[in-house]
Amino acid sequence: MIALSTLLLLVPVVLAVQARIQLTHFQSGHRSNIAPQFVPPSEGPLVQSSNYVGSNNGSLPKPKVVSGKSFDRFIQIWIENTDFESANSTTAFSDLAKQGIFLDQYYAVTHPSEPNYVAAAGGDFWGMADDSLYHIPSNISTIVDLLEAKSISWATYEENLPFDGFEGFNFSSKNYLNTSAPDYTYYVRKHNPTIIYDSVASVPSRLALHRNFNDFAADVNASALPQWVFVTPNMVNDGHDTSIDFAGQWVDYWLAPLLNDTNFNNNRTLILLTFDETETYTANNHIVAMLLGGAVPESARGTVDSTYYTHYSTLSTVEANWGLGSLGRGDTNKTLSNVFSFVANATGYKNLNISGSDIPLTNITGTIPGPLNPQLYVPFTAPNTSAVGAGGGAVFVASGLNTSLTAAVVPSPVNLTALGKTVPWLGPRNGSTAATSNSTGSGKGGNGAVSLSDGIVRSAIFGITLAGIAAFLV
Ligand SMILES: *[C@@H]1O[C@H](CO)[C@@H](O)[C@H](O)[C@H]1NC(C)=O
Ligand SMILES: *[C@@H]1O[C@H](CO)[C@@H](O)[C@H](O)[C@H]1NC(C)=O
Ligand SMILES: *[C@@H]1O[C@H](CO)[C@@H](O)[C@H](O)[C@H]1NC(C)=O
Ligand SMILES: *[C@@H]1O[C@H](CO)[C@@H](O)[C@H](O)[C@H]1NC(C)=O
Ligand SMILES: *[C@@H]1O[C@H](CO)[C@@H](O)[C@H](O)[C@H]1NC(C)=O
Ligand SMILES: *[C@@H]1O[C@H](CO)[C@@H](O)[C@H](O)[C@H]1NC(C)=O
Ligand SMILES: *[C@@H]1O[C@H](CO)[C@@H](O)[C@H](O)[C@H]1NC(C)=O
Ligand SMILES: *[C@@H]1O[C@H](CO)[C@@H](O)[C@H](O)[C@H]1NC(C)=O
Ligand SMILES: *[C@@H]1O[C@H](CO)[C@@H](O)[C@H](O)[C@H]1NC(C)=O
Ligand SMILES: *[C@@H]1O[C@H](CO)[C@@H](O)[C@H](O)[C@H]1NC(C)=O
Ligand SMILES: *[C@@H]1O[C@H](CO)[C@@H](O)[C@H](O)[C@H]1NC(C)=O
Ligand SMILES: *[C@@H]1O[C@H](CO)[C@@H](O)[C@H](O)[C@H]1NC(C)=O
Repeated sequence: MIALSTLLLLVPVVLAVQARIQLTHFQSGHRSNIAPQFVPPSEGPLVQSSNYVGSNNGSLPKPKVVSGKSFDRFIQIWIENTDFESANSTTAFSDLAKQGIFLDQYYAVTHPSEPNYVAAAGGDFWGMADDSLYHIPSNISTIVDLLEAKSISWATYEENLPFDGFEGFNFSSKNYLNTSAPDYTYYVRKHNPTIIYDSVASVPSRLALHRNFNDFAADVNASALPQWVFVTPNMVNDGHDTSIDFAGQWVDYWLAPLLNDTNFNNNRTLILLTFDETETYTANNHIVAMLLGGAVPESARGTVDSTYYTHYSTLSTVEANWGLGSLGRGDTNKTLSNVFSFVANATGYKNLNISGSDIPLTNITGTIPGPLNPQLYVPFTAPNTSAVGAGGGAVFVASGLNTSLTAAVVPSPVNLTALGKTVPWLGPRNGSTAATSNSTGSGKGGNGAVSLSDGIVRSAIFGITLAGIAAFLV
């Protein structure tokens, strides 16, 4: 690890970089002043394209529909790293919100990206404070266990995934924004929530449900879209390497026509469009979120719902809708898991009224002990098995779970970093056959110029965090 003196030396550098970032923002209103122009990756979301990389592998069987109380299909689409104000002032998002319910008090649960995605699948981010290659042991359950217990179909669709169930850290392919530039890293595992869990990835039938965008086109065209769907656009379309305007253009290209397609959106479909986290770490993690789709009651379209929600609300809402069990994690923390109110109304779930200074500060990074926090390491503990979630069912107990290893008996956190060690879950899943990264072409998977400024932002944030820790120690 970096010595304290080195950390302190970083401070002026960080301040200088920070000043440059602010200048860039002031000048352009974007996170990057060299953002490329949006290029549609295909002729339409339902047209096969080599830009989507993985070729279609047939369509899923048409699912047997399990009726929910408010909806029969839930589709989440996550865009990256944008503050509430910035997304709310981008017409692609503000116009779309008018078609559904605008959730204007929705918060991410931590920083940076990966722990937010992981939280939306497993109800916790396990103390994770970075975007490294992790795998989570198979005694830890996810939403997939709850859905499958009730035979509810699911899949995730990842743009630029090279093949179904690819477990690599990232994947680079032909740069379709600039064909003379080297291969570009469009796919990253850190935005693919369920694949990080061994309880999902080590089961071949589950692994195969991590599908690419050509599969998506085939599944929609075959009227075979599953009932729980997570969609991850690539690193330029989700705004991560580009800008909110670029992401807005992607939303216009991809989501707008699909909203009119009954194979995607029918009167029993609920769609959540949101962000993983804010770009700014120094204010609370307030992001834009909206509910779209035919399941939104007519009377609620064009309204604003100011209930306090977090990413855990995506779990509790799904649990409430289908009367599922729970994970006994963040999904059953009443404060953090209000159910989307029209669903709460339909299911009889009582939300908590949390506003103003009662809203927890979730703009935290690395302060929570956990099995993926090398500086405050504790083992994976059992969930609260007596918790009752919004679905009313029992807490799912994964095989191999030691239910007596609870938060109450867990040993004090250990600083593994100080001992020169890392957490045991760093790296790929044991037995995983996929390479940790790869490329379709001869290029080395370089990121090209477009990601450079994002890299600076990210290093600056890391620098600020390190400097913050250093300042605290001094
Ligand atoms: C979001 O933007 C709209 C204008 O498009 C504005 O009326 C509204 O007050 C904004 N919401 C918040 C919470 O800032
Ligand atoms: C195609 O789908 C099958 C069945 O789900 C799966 O086993 C296989 O790995 C997939 N192949 C590719 C290349 O995606
Ligand atoms: C495209 O990539 C090439 C090679 O990296 C670079 O020289 C050129 O400036 C890029 N064009 C644009 C418009 O960014
Ligand atoms: C979707 O349908 C509405 C009418 O129902 C129409 O106004 C709109 O232009 C259509 N959008 C797209 C992208 O096709
Ligand atoms: C929902 O769609 C189905 C199938 O198209 C139709 O039969 C039903 O009447 C619709 N329900 C409402 C409330 O629009
Ligand atoms: C989190 O946001 C609050 C409220 O804006 C701010 O006071 C605090 O300093 C932020 N925390 C961090 C770690 O930046
Ligand atoms: C629920 O979340 C709140 C806000 O983060 C936290 O203060 C509280 O400790 C959590 N409750 C449990 C039982 O973990
Ligand atoms: C849910 O019920 C509450 C209380 O009756 C009501 O104020 C609110 O408008 C309802 N929300 C929706 C989205 O239907
Ligand atoms: C879960 O499994 C891991 C790996 O075998 C183990 O370290 C941990 O103690 C287990 N936790 C529980 C609660 O079973
Ligand atoms: C853990 O140890 C590292 C290296 O000694 C140190 O930089 C860091 O501040 C420690 N973290 C905590 C939370 O004590
Ligand atoms: C892709 O993965 C390799 C290691 O496998 C790593 O060195 C590189 O930084 C990663 N790139 C991105 C953009 O995540
Ligand atoms: C990754 O590279 C290896 C060796 O070059 C190759 O055998 C493998 O098929 C590649 N994987 C993908 C997903 O392209």
